[in-house]
Amino acid sequence: MPARISTPISITIIQEEHEHLSNIMERMLSFVRSLQEVNTNVDLSVFRAMLYYIGQYPERVHHPKEDQFLFAKIKDRTHQLDVELDNLSEQHSKGELLAHRLLTALQAYEFGGTEALPHFRTLVEQYTHFYFAHMRMEEERIIPVALQVLNDADWNIVDAAFLENRKEMDDDGQRYHYDQLFSRIMSASPGPQ
Ligand SMILES: [Fe+2]
Ligand SMILES: [Fe+2]
Repeated sequence: MPARISTPISITIIQEEHEHLSNIMERMLSFVRSLQEVNTNVDLSVFRAMLYYIGQYPERVHHPKEDQFLFAKIKDRTHQLDVELDNLSEQHSKGELLAHRLLTALQAYEFGGTEALPHFRTLVEQYTHFYFAHMRMEEERIIPVALQVLNDADWNIVDAAFLENRKEMDDDGQRYHYDQLFSRIMSASPGPQ
């Protein structure tokens, strides 16, 4: 079956959300690299806002949609990506634990002393590396195959689910809230060096 010419809306939504997440990850890295071992008086609230954003948006909205709709449909059509899809779903469930470890490391730096900074920095580097690799796998390996194997009826189902989810978030103001939070994070944190 030839690949689709136009991009399904569900894929556009995933790509937009990845773009936002990548921006947050870059800001996380820049922020943690800007911290000094000697400076104990730093405002860490923007880092907390980043963790909150990730906990609320990707963990609760983005990953479940991928698992329930896109990955499930791909598995209906082909088994060539079963291992990769299982790994990605496992990473979805691991994300929350990793974010919790980051929060603990942040608190250790904040309340335990600046000697905790190297560990905090290492965890942020590992976490962002994990996230970038995850999104790269979805964009470079999973989505191209999905565009080959899903038919129009499949895309109608997947697109409808993503659009329904987006409409619900628009209706109850959640999307506005996340967009505001995203803008605040972007303006309050240093950009990539
Ligand atoms: Fe994912
Ligand atoms: Fe994703």
